[in-house]
Amino acid sequence: MSHLQGGIAVVTGAASGFGLESCRIAARMGMRIVMADVQADALASAQREIEALGAPVMPFRLEVSRAAEVEALAAATLRHFGTPNLVFNNAGVGAGGLIWEHTLKDWEWVIGVNLMGVAHGVRVFTPLMLAAAQADPEWRGDIVNTASMAGLVNTPNMGAYNVSKHGVVSISETLYQDLALVTEQVHAHLLCPFFVPTGIHQSARNRPPEMPAAPPTRSQLIAQAMSDKAVSSGKVSAAQVAQWVFDACADNRFYIYSHPKSLASVQTRLEDLLTPRNPSDPFAARPELGVQLRQQLRGF
Ligand SMILES: NC(=O)c1ccc[n+]([C@@H]2O[C@H](COP(=O)([O-])OP(=O)(O)OC[C@H]3O[C@@H](n4cnc5c(N)ncnc54)[C@H](O)[C@@H]3O)[C@@H](O)[C@H]2O)c1
Repeated sequence: MSHLQGGIAVVTGAASGFGLESCRIAARMGMRIVMADVQADALASAQREIEALGAPVMPFRLEVSRAAEVEALAAATLRHFGTPNLVFNNAGVGAGGLIWEHTLKDWEWVIGVNLMGVAHGVRVFTPLMLAAAQADPEWRGDIVNTASMAGLVNTPNMGAYNVSKHGVVSISETLYQDLALVTEQVHAHLLCPFFVPTGIHQSARNRPPEMPAAPPTRSQLIAQAMSDKAVSSGKVSAAQVAQWVFDACADNRFYIYSHPKSLASVQTRLEDLLTPRNPSDPFAARPELGVQLRQQLRGF
């Protein structure tokens, strides 16, 4: 039986995709669940669904890029349920295009949500979990951060998203090492999905009004079309990925992959930098994709 059974979970990005699927699993495991998300209507309907499964739910609307709102999430969690055994720092947004074509607002939005959202979650919840562990030698906790395969390789035309997810990999590997210095009761995990059908390709729906998007450039339109196709044709389901998150917590495994075969590209990158040689063609396995992308970008 998993140590998370009957415990307390905090999930960001809980209204859709991996977050919602995780709440479904947490409900089946008898957990009390804090469902945190920025999208109020989706959060309300997700809350109704999870409550109908019999789970006590505290919905919490927040913008994870704002430190004070993540701090308020932690305070409300403590008041309502207690110290969470599972913190899933999962909320994220996608944005593509050539790296020099991101506007300042694009950078602020993507780095704010994907990277600072995770940093706030780690900063705010880890000390609470360590205190609970110190007070009770039986207490166990898990922190899962969602990065991406984009955190392990640098696929072109995905600019700020790659940067943000590499940062999440770094936070999470460091968290793993730092926790090992001070406890055996709280563990870190890193989720690196490849393309999985969720709402991630429609992230602009949650872009805040104070960070308006500029009219899209050619590269951004191409990136959007590619991500629409890749995400919606993904063969692995979000429900499967969420189950692998819980399995990894039960088995204390750090790296969680949705598509282990895609790790070949990570190996190529590591060989590039160790050889050292210039970065390999990311389209070597499917050259027609590279040809098509170059043609589209150059306007042929
Ligand atoms: N689906 C994929 O192919 C894929 C691949 C790699 C990584 N990821 C990552 O998985 C994570 C979950 O995304 P998903 O695929 O389930 O997409 P999704 O869009 O279905 O779910 C993301 C959820 O995060 C919420 N959210 C967005 N911005 C927020 C903010 N500022 N504050 C709070 N909540 C916010 C959204 O409202 C949404 O409910 C993201 O970090 C994403 O980058 C997804």
